[in-house]
Amino acid sequence: MASNPTRIAILFSGTGTNLKNLVAHILAENVAATLELAICNRPDAKGLEFCRDNNIPHELIDHTNYSDRAEFDAAMQTALQAANIDLICAAGFMRLLTPEFVRHWQDRIINIHPSLLPAYKGLHTHRRVLEAGDKTHGCTVHMMRPEMDEGPILVQRQIDVLPDDTEDTLAARVMEQELIAYPEALDMMLARLQG
Ligand code: GAR
Repeated sequence: MASNPTRIAILFSGTGTNLKNLVAHILAENVAATLELAICNRPDAKGLEFCRDNNIPHELIDHTNYSDRAEFDAAMQTALQAANIDLICAAGFMRLLTPEFVRHWQDRIINIHPSLLPAYKGLHTHRRVLEAGDKTHGCTVHMMRPEMDEGPILVQRQIDVLPDDTEDTLAARVMEQELIAYPEALDMMLARLQG
């Protein structure tokens, strides 16, 4: 491992499939990074169990306890700065961040989204792909910018939409690609940050 590994925080809101995958990747040999903090904004998120069971340093910052986005983001900022974080990975983090927060972390905050951006920003991407009759779908890991689901693309992985696909089958096959795409994108970011 490099002498100064990149200190990573992961943001998540739900099941935590990408969280688990990133943790496994960061713990793998030859990845010059340490997971310093996982932050979750929802007390019912399944990923919290994984953090507790695996001694992952984590904080629940419940957004409902804050009067507005700026206050919530300030609480996150305090936690991230206390942990001396270099790079943030949003992994199924379903909360919009303020432009000020994203600008502060410009080029040091990345996100995964279940569509071939710039197509299908926002929610319900699998349903919208089916409704549009698209033949392809996929996932994107990108650097975050203040506008939702925008920013320079790091990795994109594509799948074919099959005639009998449902939202669930599409979600499962896109997730298979997410599990390849996010570690690839993280490695790209580590190479950039460690120059
Ligand atoms: C993933 O499919 C991720 O791409 C998506 O939420 C899911 C989280 O699942 N993110 C977004 O939609 C962000 N705009 P997970 O908690 O099991 O990793």
